[in-house]
Amino acid sequence: MSTLVVVGAQWGDEGKGKVVDVLAEEASVVARFAGGNNAGHTLVVDGRKLITHLVPSGCRYPGTRCVLGAGMVIDPEVFRAEIDELRVLGLLAQDELRVSLDAHVIFPFHRAIDGLREDRASTAERIGTTRRGVGPAYEAKAARRGVRVRDLLDVTRLRERLAKNKDALDHEMQRLGAEDQALDLEALVEQGLGWGRWLGPMACDAGELCARAIRSGEKVLFEGAQGALLDLDHGTYPYVTSSSSIAGGVCTGIGIGPTLIDEVWGITKAYTTRVGRGPFPTRLTGPAGDRLREAGAEYGATTGRPRDCGWLDLPALSRAARLSGMTGLCVTKLDVLAALPEVQICESYEDDVDPGRDGLEQAVPRLRSVPGWGDPAILEGLHAAKDRAGLPAAVRAYLDLIEEHTQVPVVLVSVGPDRAQTLRFADAFS
Ligand code: IMP
Repeated sequence: MSTLVVVGAQWGDEGKGKVVDVLAEEASVVARFAGGNNAGHTLVVDGRKLITHLVPSGCRYPGTRCVLGAGMVIDPEVFRAEIDELRVLGLLAQDELRVSLDAHVIFPFHRAIDGLREDRASTAERIGTTRRGVGPAYEAKAARRGVRVRDLLDVTRLRERLAKNKDALDHEMQRLGAEDQALDLEALVEQGLGWGRWLGPMACDAGELCARAIRSGEKVLFEGAQGALLDLDHGTYPYVTSSSSIAGGVCTGIGIGPTLIDEVWGITKAYTTRVGRGPFPTRLTGPAGDRLREAGAEYGATTGRPRDCGWLDLPALSRAARLSGMTGLCVTKLDVLAALPEVQICESYEDDVDPGRDGLEQAVPRLRSVPGWGDPAILEGLHAAKDRAGLPAAVRAYLDLIEEHTQVPVVLVSVGPDRAQTLRFADAFS
């Protein structure tokens, strides 16, 4: 058995795309289990930047099967465009992509509602979603009127599913002041059938595909989207996404049991970023935040929004490690910290606020400067290092501190955007 789950340990954007891209070389299946095109995974292939939103980051390896699981919500228009782009680049063969029959479909009306709600909400109520229709599609799923990939393959079922949405959606459009956007049932049926024609050949029982691969000894990598602190159940609710972004989401989002999971690697930046609203204890405002944003080029891969930036938050990271039962931590963007004149870290909050018990709204970080950083030689040392022992002393001490707090070994560090700028300290697959 050889399975590895890769999940975000913060508020998303931790660099999962690059890490999965590096690790996927060894896997024969890479499967995504949650989210939709709210995610944006940046890969650098031969110096060229590529952003995938739906197709798992393992797509560039010939023969690797890429699977979109039942826990995902799929916008077929975005999916089609992405497949076409990858195929033009020669990165995705015809038979390498599989989609769960039970994944839910994002229709244009989900996108419209997501955007209208954000536009109409008061500043206090706005979530700052990616406006991709992800939340409304998951709402429809929970309300048992969602449309799945399998429904696109049968006209009677599709019409029946869409009809179930009409009253609720027309009412919602009216509430949002968009009466003119009433749902045109027959036009949507046509659109859905059109999607079904090209999605059908790649639709499958994704859980069975993964379980069979695992049983026959293949290496399977499960790729998360977003991060633990955006998880619907355990994140900074209500400022969260609408799906399960922790490792447990693999079981429901793919359709396999927890006994099939061997390793869980969490990805964290060497600092913290967040996009969208919600608590962020170590957020830096003013020039300090701007400096970190510019150093790390912290702009959303999906929306282009500037990310809020702050120091590494060890209590929040420790909670994320516990939520996913992490067996390894990957620390990305160490090179960005190395470019700063000073580095700080949060090891605890004032008044012993506990992130699980008290939430993060009230958490005031106790920050301290990390010794040894701010020296220009660190960047050079990072790039020259061939292994952990060869890293600059300040960086090694930083990694030790992370391990001490989270009780999870650091198994990989990333010191630049290129896949070659990666040091691995452990095997991904046992
Ligand atoms: P939604 O997932 O579009 O509904 O957005 C809900 C919250 O999750 C917002 O704060 C988004 O900014 C955030 N979010 C969703 N996907 C990502 C991601 O891939 N990276 C970072 N933040 C995300």
